[in-house]
Amino acid sequence: MGQERVLVVGAGAMGTQIGAVFALAGHPVTVQDISEDALERSQAVVRKRVGRLAEKGAIEAVDAEAAIGRMSWTANLEDAAATADLVVEAASERLDIKREVFARLGAAAPEHTILATNSSSIPSSLLAEASGRADRLCNMHFFNPALVMQAVEVVPNDQTSEATIETVLRLTEGIGKHAVRLHAEVPGFVANRLMMALLNEAVALQAQGLASIEDIDAAAKLGLAHPMGPFELMDLVGLDVVHDIQVAMHDMTDGDDPAPHPDVQRLYDAGHYGQKSGKGWYDHS
Ligand code: 3HC
Repeated sequence: MGQERVLVVGAGAMGTQIGAVFALAGHPVTVQDISEDALERSQAVVRKRVGRLAEKGAIEAVDAEAAIGRMSWTANLEDAAATADLVVEAASERLDIKREVFARLGAAAPEHTILATNSSSIPSSLLAEASGRADRLCNMHFFNPALVMQAVEVVPNDQTSEATIETVLRLTEGIGKHAVRLHAEVPGFVANRLMMALLNEAVALQAQGLASIEDIDAAAKLGLAHPMGPFELMDLVGLDVVHDIQVAMHDMTDGDDPAPHPDVQRLYDAGHYGQKSGKGWYDHS
């Protein structure tokens, strides 16, 4: 049997790199998006990023070409779902959109196909009914940038079968990632719970005027050996994503986890999302 066929829904930054990760490991991959522009950008990013791996000698040039050749891009969700063994959804972080996507995937994909969502703030239990296959459904949460970061959180809902988790763990290992296995859903999973504790503390320290954002970032990088400081990290991940995760964690814990700090809310309301918009905590223009 050949490698499992993977469909990635959403050709944004995460979907594109998740697709490339599977293709580099030998899986035939289709990346689907409703936006033709996004599909074109996604192809260009894959060429650049996978090509760069070959330039650096991390992989052979011939393997880079083969990986790119295993990928295709389409706007047609149903056709792509019909031949997929695994679907990883990385579309907009909106419940109404995801429910519609999972209803269509549930109807179009073969019986055996496992449906996973890369969502960091929407647990798969909220998509179970729409998908019609709660037992073959879970979160498979990658980190940004997905080509680089080594962890994938694998999170079952309370109906996910053991066989589904075993398959997802095997596939995660097969793409060279370390699976962080959760035993149940918790808002933010593990990594974002840890990250939000750090980010909230950093935002509070600067709001109190105790240190500059540059120095707080320096403390994390040069004092704690973090690859990026908390403000740089927020600009990489996106203030929109940070905001949405914090709102979800706040709502899902009935207020136990803090709502976005007013300074995060202010940047979010102004559309200052970080690298993707040209300005966040730092100026990226
Ligand atoms: N995409 C793909 N590869 C990338 C990349 C990107 N956006 N940025 C960097 N890289 C790779 C490239 O191979 C690059 O080498 P190259 O420039 O020769 O091609 C290599 O990483 C090193 O990059 P740089 O020299 O530009 O910079 P760094 O050494 O500082 O590495 C970094 C960049 C990998 C982003 C590093 O700073 C880092 O690990 N930062 C922390 C990232 C992090 O914590 N991510 C998790 C966020 S939380 C999350 O995603 C969860 C979600 O739910 C919010």
